[in-house]
Amino acid sequence: MLQARQGNQRDGITGALICRRDIYLQLLEGPGPVVRAAYDRIRRDDRHLDVRLHVTDPVSARLFADWAMLHDPAQSLIWSPDHLTDDRRKDLPPDELRRIFTDLSAAAQHRP
Ligand SMILES: Cc1cc2nc3c(=O)[nH]c(=O)nc-3n(C[C@H](O)[C@H](O)[C@H](O)COP(=O)(O)O)c2cc1C
Repeated sequence: MLQARQGNQRDGITGALICRRDIYLQLLEGPGPVVRAAYDRIRRDDRHLDVRLHVTDPVSARLFADWAMLHDPAQSLIWSPDHLTDDRRKDLPPDELRRIFTDLSAAAQHRP
């Protein structure tokens, strides 16, 4: 996480990382070229298996402007244990993905 935050601070990237067991769902926001470069680094990193790109949206405002990478290890329940073993669930519909991060951003505004 430190490595992610340092890289993101340098590049003007913000976002959020949701972790459940060994599954990560991550939102990166910032200028297109630096976000694409960060995504390429993540994809090259051999600690990651089965990296998938779900949604790329042009946005006018950031959801996590104050976070170099908000870490959400447990607060928001997204996948049940059954879902985690069902490979199809890893391909969530774009609207559901947008809602997950919009909700997390709203909840994060109340965190210290
Ligand atoms: C779960 C996870 C999330 C990561 N998120 C980011 C990130 O948001 N930005 C970033 O620059 N690196 C992130 N990293 C680190 C990259 O995978 C990579 O190790 C780092 O960018 C250095 O890449 P390089 O050795 O090719 O320069 C993440 C690593 C892990 C394990």
